[in-house]
This record gives sequence, structure tokens and C-alpha cells, in this order.
Amino acid sequence: MKKKKIFIKTWGCQMNTYDSSIIANILQKNNYKISSKEKNADIFVLNTCSIRNKAQEKLFHQLGRWKKIKEKNKNIIIAVGGCVAVQEGKKIFDRAPYINIIFGTQNVHQLPILIEKYIKNKLSILEINNLKTEKFNFYDNKKIFKTKEIVSIMEGCNKFCSFCIVPYTRGREISRNYKSIISEIMILAQNGVKEITLLGQNVNAYNFLKKNGKKVYFSKLLRYISEISQIKRIKFITSHPCEFTEDIIEVYRDIPKIVSFLHLPVQSGSNKILQLMKRRYNVNQYKEIISKLIKYRNNIQISSDFIIGFPGETKEDFQKTMKLISEINFDMSFSFLYSPRPGTPASKMKDNVSLEEKKERLYILQEKINEQTLSWSKKMLYTKQMVLVDGPSKKNIMQLSGKTENNRTVHFKGSKKHIGKIVPIKIIETSRYNLQGKLI
Ligand code: SAH
Ligand code: SF4
Ligand code: F3S
Repeated sequence: MKKKKIFIKTWGCQMNTYDSSIIANILQKNNYKISSKEKNADIFVLNTCSIRNKAQEKLFHQLGRWKKIKEKNKNIIIAVGGCVAVQEGKKIFDRAPYINIIFGTQNVHQLPILIEKYIKNKLSILEINNLKTEKFNFYDNKKIFKTKEIVSIMEGCNKFCSFCIVPYTRGREISRNYKSIISEIMILAQNGVKEITLLGQNVNAYNFLKKNGKKVYFSKLLRYISEISQIKRIKFITSHPCEFTEDIIEVYRDIPKIVSFLHLPVQSGSNKILQLMKRRYNVNQYKEIISKLIKYRNNIQISSDFIIGFPGETKEDFQKTMKLISEINFDMSFSFLYSPRPGTPASKMKDNVSLEEKKERLYILQEKINEQTLSWSKKMLYTKQMVLVDGPSKKNIMQLSGKTENNRTVHFKGSKKHIGKIVPIKIIETSRYNLQGKLI
């Protein structure tokens, strides 16, 4: 029988990308074919995100397009998953009755069964159950390995920041068995992977309860992973300041493989706003974490997420955020206007700052961060950097390119033998994100 073709579209964070890769893996195992084009696909899968505004509109806009394709071919199956699917559930059927399957963030690995069931019964399916860590068992079907890979270690969130939808769509924090994490990384290491990024909504909340009643915490997991000799660089996203404990900071003292670049979202520099956001730390506590890290790594670079225009954010609050940005000298940021999320406490808070004013604040913030990014890059001029070589440079096919520890792309003249390796490069030219270098 001809293999059915699946087209997968993914929005949102790396967790969704990861989930989509599980979907692709498991469907391929079950005799489906992944198609990179909509054309001629038999099954359409949409993996949605609801972190900021217009998530619903975006979803129905996309589904409207697929509806037209389905009108020409009634046999097409449409499945919607991800965070909007969990949030909206069966309401999606009401607005888009032509879709066939709705599945939750914890149900991705069940998709082949759900598709089979739909083909058999022709009845629409809603499957949004929390199956805990079951899906983590479906990673291991990789055929092609890159030099860097992402490994999921935990999922979900218990923090309930007042603005955020994630705890409602991803469920409570749940840690994957450390043995399964280690064995996945061992396989990656044996296949040439040099860098891994540990993934989770709050990676530093990782804690796995062993049979003997003892727990493996995040710092311990980092130490275990660092013992795998082929893995040369360890990164992680995202960690939360409220659990960035002493034992994690000490890992920076002991393990050079942990990169000197940390994404630690602060969201705001005003204690009043942090409290309204329910972030569980204040500005001083955040600064303390960073100074402790600097003690062990004087060159560490910090990046952050910021929310601008949170309800009640005054000019003074915004100035406090700007002050913190200078003090920490953040290297990069993901910064967005606050977007009320249905059902969250913040969506009921009074907000009297105009959109225009908010946009201006965001602009000022982003300009400032851009300046800092450039100045961090300039500091790299004439230094030696270890670069993980990806392959031919997209800017100039006569050159190779790769990444430094702090995520800068470096272009340089090299040869095939350097691809997939970490090589020492002297930086000879800099711009904000791109550097030109020379092999040492
Ligand atoms: N768990 C991580 C962040 C995950 S969500 C942490 O707490 O640091 C990724 C980012 O999306 C957040 O850091 C925040 O800056 C942004 N975000 C979440 N909800 C938002 C909302 N309602 N409006 C605007 N930005 C939001
Ligand atoms: Fe959302 Fe806060 Fe959880 Fe991060 S910690 S995912 S911002 S609720
Ligand atoms: Fe979006 Fe869900 Fe990720 S809301 S950012 S896809 S956790």
C-alpha cells in the first residue's frame, strides 16, 4: 500500500518543535511518510502555540486555508495539537467542524493510533489527557544526527505567573527519568553530537524521584551529563530565577562544559511589577544570582525575556527595567508587549497605559539591548573563540560557519575536515551577531 503523506506545521517554542519531531518520528515508524509540502499530503497536522495574542485567530486562519484544500479532497485528515488545542479543546470543533482530531501536548505520541481510529470510525476525536512522561519514550528513532541536539528533560510548570498560559496548557512540572536522559545523550554522543541543549519549561525545577526515595536534582543531572566525554558543550533553556540555587551555581565553578552564556528571564526590573507578575523573586535576588555566577565565570553573558506594558507598569517601573538592563549588561533578549491571556489572573487586572506608550517603551528597550549585543560582540574582537562548525556558510559558500559558546555565528575559511568539530578561531571582524574569524 502507498504510504500516507503527512504535513506538519509547528508554531511556538522549542518544546513544540520537539513534540513535532516526536510526531514525525513515530509516524515514520508507523509507515507514514513526512512531507515538507502541503501539496499531495493526506494528513495535515498543526502544532499550535498560545503564548501571546491572536493565537486563536491565527489558528482559524490557517484552518480556513486547509479547509479549502479539503474541499477538493474529502479524504484529507486534519489534526490540531499544541497549546491552543489544550486551551480551547472541543470549541475548535464548533468553529471548524471539518477538522478531525484534536490532541493535547501530552498525547503527541498517540497520533498514529488516533489517525487509525479516525480512519476506521470516521468520528472526530478529542484526546487531551495528561499521560505524564509517556511521550519521553518516543525520542529514539533518529536517523540523521546534527552536531547539536536538543534533549527534553522536563515539562510543565507549577509557577503560575499571573500573565502566563503555559501551566494551563502544559500541565504540572514533570521530570523525565534521568537514566532515559543519559541513555539518549549517550546515543547522540556516539553519533557525533558535540553540543546538547537540555529543554524544559523550567529546567532547574528538574527533580526525579528514585526508587530509593532520593531525588536527582538539576545540578546532579548536569554533573552526570558532563561525564559523557564526547559531549563538549552543555546548554539549557529555560531556567527560572526562583530556583537557581547554590548547587546549580557551583556547577559553573566545576564544569567548564556548561557554557558561559545563560538565559535567565527576569521579565521586569521593578519589584512592584515582579510581585504583580507573581514571579517569586525580587530585583536584588536576581542580581545576587548573577554576581555569584560572575564570581566563577567573570566573562559570563546573560540573556533574558522581558514583558513590556504589564498592567500597572508606570514610567518609573519601566525606568527600573532599563536600569537593570544596564546593570546586568544583558547580551540579548526576547522582549514582547504584554498580551492578556484568557483565564489568567493578569487578564483581569486594570491596565491604563496606551498601546502607543507601550510600543515606545518596547522600542527603547530593544534599542538598548541591541547596543549591548553589539558591544559584547566588539569585546570578542581579536580573542580566541571555540567554534562548533556547522558546515558551509550561508553568507559565503567559500567559507564555513559555526557557533561560539555565546551563540554568535562565525564565518571562516576552513576545510571539510572541520565540519562537526570544535575548532579554535581568532575573531578578526565583528558585527552584532556575525563575526569573521581565522583558524588558529
Ligand atoms: N518558563 C520561562 C518562560 C516561558 S514563556 C520563564 O518563566 O522564564 C516564554 C516567555 O514568553 C516568557 O518569559 C515571557 O516573557 C513571555 N510571555 C509569557 N506570557 C506572556 C504574555 N501573556 N504576554 C507577553 N509575553 C508573555
Ligand atoms: Fe509561564 Fe511563569 Fe511558568 Fe515561565 S514560570 S512558564 S512564565 S508560568
Ligand atoms: Fe507556546 Fe505552548 Fe510553547 S504556549 S511557547 S507552544 S509551551
